[in-house]
Amino acid sequence: MSNRIIPIIRQSAGQPLALSTDASGVATGLLLDTLQRPLRDLRISVTDRCNFRCVYCMPRAVFNQDYSYLPHTDLLTFEEITRLARLLVAHGVTKIRLTGGEPLLRKNLERLVAMLRRIETPDGAPLDLTLTTNGALLAKKAHMLKDAGLNRVTVSLDALDDAIFKRMNDADFSVADVLEGLDVAHKVGLAPIKINMVVKAGINDTEIIPMARHFRDTPFLLRFIEYMDVGDSNGWKMNEVIPSRQLLEQISGSAKDMQLMPATSGRADETAKRWRYQDGPGEIGVISSVTQAFCKDCTRLRLSTEGKLFTCLFATHGHDVRELLRNQSDDVLISSALAHLWQLRTDRYSEIRSQQSGPLKKVEMSYIGG
Ligand code: GTP
Ligand code: 5AD
Ligand code: SF4
Ligand code: SF4
Repeated sequence: MSNRIIPIIRQSAGQPLALSTDASGVATGLLLDTLQRPLRDLRISVTDRCNFRCVYCMPRAVFNQDYSYLPHTDLLTFEEITRLARLLVAHGVTKIRLTGGEPLLRKNLERLVAMLRRIETPDGAPLDLTLTTNGALLAKKAHMLKDAGLNRVTVSLDALDDAIFKRMNDADFSVADVLEGLDVAHKVGLAPIKINMVVKAGINDTEIIPMARHFRDTPFLLRFIEYMDVGDSNGWKMNEVIPSRQLLEQISGSAKDMQLMPATSGRADETAKRWRYQDGPGEIGVISSVTQAFCKDCTRLRLSTEGKLFTCLFATHGHDVRELLRNQSDDVLISSALAHLWQLRTDRYSEIRSQQSGPLKKVEMSYIGG
């Protein structure tokens, strides 16, 4: 990876703001960034590899046999990840999402889940521990993950039709594999389960209505996602994005019993806006990261597989925390550096996307986590 790495503590930026200290001497305290956004959501990428080659994420032309993935020695160990997560939970993180690449490819992932589950939050409330997967290995692993303490999963599924599914992910899996994964995950009690469908115009937009119909009477919440300009590999073009507004009109106009109305959304920092069917039960979500940016409520921090922290999905550089974890035995110091990083955060890429241009290399979503 050729992304520029900068040290986590920038000398020029002065000292971290005052922090309180808990009984064990570890700096704690809720953090706000420069736009008054708290730190709540930590996404941990556990591998940069994937068994799919989705055209919008890891196109085969780039992610081929010549692509250099991270060597094993560069990966953070489960102990290092857990130490960092514990310090970030003390700073206000309430939700941890494991991502990749495909997280289920990381060996013994359930061991990491069990370690994260043991982290205590300042107010004693349980952590929301979840994972995003393409579902191919979910049937095999759901039980183990649930037993280890995972609460829920989000499963990517871009089509019900096998040919279209394959055109989106360029791999040799069938829709039935993913549906079986969903079924097993539901049976073992992972809940709620969400389904993420990225819509790319001209490839899977014909699947919008079939997907909406199929999942309407199931326990799964289907969310439609606008195709984003994340990374540099997917050759993103604005005319391949279906704006959520248009997608909602399409579903509502497809049949009398498919008309949608706004539903009360959950948390303020939720990426999806919820809609419900006027006639009877059923909800969907739309994630409009391109046409209606949600940076003003963005509470997310991302940790890459090799230990770099990214304060935005569209960041061009990460902050190396692996060196600190490997060479610094003092948690107070690491904790202060983390506080400093969040308090200096200014990111709002999606809101100012149209003003962005230039040669800086963006990180890939498979590296930083979805
Ligand atoms: P829930 O807690 O289940 O609501 O999770 P979530 O919606 O925050 O996470 P998920 O990983 O399921 O996000 C769904 C999709 O929203 C991602 O795959 C991205 O396409 C998009 N997304 C998530 N986080 C961000 C973000 O910080 N910025 C932008 N621009 N898009 C995001
Ligand atoms: N646009 C939108 N979402 C993306 N994802 C990956 N690449 C993109 C992109 N270009 C998200 C999808 C997938 C998750 C793993 O990452 O939601 O479900
Ligand atoms: Fe793999 Fe998910 Fe990226 Fe598809 S979107 S290539 S399944 S990491
Ligand atoms: Fe957050 Fe950056 Fe996404 Fe905006 S573009 S929502 S700041 S990750």
